[in-house]
Amino acid sequence: MQYFITGGAGFIGSNMADRLLKDGHKVTVYDKFVTGHREFLEEALKSSDFTLIEGDCADEDKMAEAMKGSDMVFHFAANADVRRGLEHPMKDLEQNTNNTFHVLEAMRKAGVGRIGFSSTGSVYGEAEVIPTPENAPFPVQTSLYGASKLAGEGLIAAYCEGYGFTGYIFRFVSILGERYPHGHVYDFCKALGRDPENLHILGDGHQKKSYLYVGDCINAILTVVDKCSDKVNIYNLGTDEYCEVNDSASWIASELGVSPKFTYSGGNKGWIGDNPFIYLDTKKIRSLGWIPELTIEQAVRRTVRYIQKNPWLLEDGK
Ligand SMILES: NC(=O)c1ccc[n+]([C@@H]2O[C@H](COP(=O)([O-])OP(=O)(O)OC[C@H]3O[C@@H](n4cnc5c(N)ncnc54)[C@H](O)[C@@H]3O)[C@@H](O)[C@H]2O)c1
Repeated sequence: MQYFITGGAGFIGSNMADRLLKDGHKVTVYDKFVTGHREFLEEALKSSDFTLIEGDCADEDKMAEAMKGSDMVFHFAANADVRRGLEHPMKDLEQNTNNTFHVLEAMRKAGVGRIGFSSTGSVYGEAEVIPTPENAPFPVQTSLYGASKLAGEGLIAAYCEGYGFTGYIFRFVSILGERYPHGHVYDFCKALGRDPENLHILGDGHQKKSYLYVGDCINAILTVVDKCSDKVNIYNLGTDEYCEVNDSASWIASELGVSPKFTYSGGNKGWIGDNPFIYLDTKKIRSLGWIPELTIEQAVRRTVRYIQKNPWLLEDGK
C-alpha cells in the first residue's frame, strides 16, 4: 500500500512512517517542518520506499499532486499546542480546521478516498460522563484546539457522506514516548534540568490525566484501519487507567534521580481549557482485540529516558 502522511516529520507522524515502512508499505511524508524534525526521519530517509516532500497543507494543489497514487492519507499535521490557543485565536482555525478542509479537497482532486485523522479527547471538553465514550452527549467546547478538531471531524464526516470517502477519526488522550516534543513530561524535564530542587506545577497537581504510549497509539490506529470499513469510524484511544499530574511529576523526578519540592499555581486546572479529569472509555477499540502494552507509569518513564538520550530536543525551542 502507498500511504501519504501529513505532519509525518512530527512526533506521532514519524513513528507512523517508520512503522508503515517496516510493514513493507510505501510512504510519502508531507510536512512544513513547523514543529517537525528531519532527525525523526533519519531511518525513513534510508528507505527507497520513502519520499519526503516539504510543503504546507494550505497548498492544496501541491498536496494533491504529491498524494496522487496513494491508497490512504493519515492527516496528522496540526497546531498541536492545546495550551496557547487563546494567544493566537486564528491559529487553530487555520491549521486544524481549514487545513483539514484543504487535505480533503486535495484528496478529492487526487482521487484518494480514505483518511485517518488525529483528533483529540479535548473535543469532549469537561465531559459529563467519565469514562467518556465516543457517543457521549454532544460536548460543550472548552478550548479553541478542541473546537478546531471537532470542526475537522465534522468536515471529514461530511466528505464521507457527500463524496463516498471512508473516514477514521481517532480521539487520542495525550501521547507519550520516543520523539515526544511537547507536553508536561517535556516541560518538567526541562524545568528540572534548570533547577532540580524545585518544580512548579500548573494547577493543584490533582488533575487526573490518561496517557498512551505512542507505539500503542500506532497499533490501535492500524488495528482500526485494518478491521473497520464503516463510512465513518470513530474511536477513542487511551489506556484504561489515569493518574494525577502529581504522580507523573514524581515518576519523572525519580527517573531523573532528583527530589524536587513541588509548588503549585493553584486551582483545579493548569490553564483555561485544561480538562481537570480526562479519562476515555476505550471499550470500543478493545473490542477489536487491541490492548496497550505499556502502563501510564511505564510510558512516562520511557519518555523521560528518551528525552535524556536526546537533550537536543530540550534546546530546540520549536
Ligand atoms: N501528541 C499528543 O499528545 C496528541 C494528542 C491528541 C491529538 N494529537 C494530534 O496528533 C497529531 C500529531 O501530533 P504530534 O504530537 O505528533 O504533533 P507534532 O507537532 O510533533 O507534529 C505535527 C507535524 O505537523 C507539521 N505541520 C504543522 N503545520 C503544518 C502545515 N501547515 N503543513 C504541513 N505540515 C505541518 C509539523 O511540522 C509537525 O511535523 C496532531 O494533529 C495533534 O493535534 C496529538
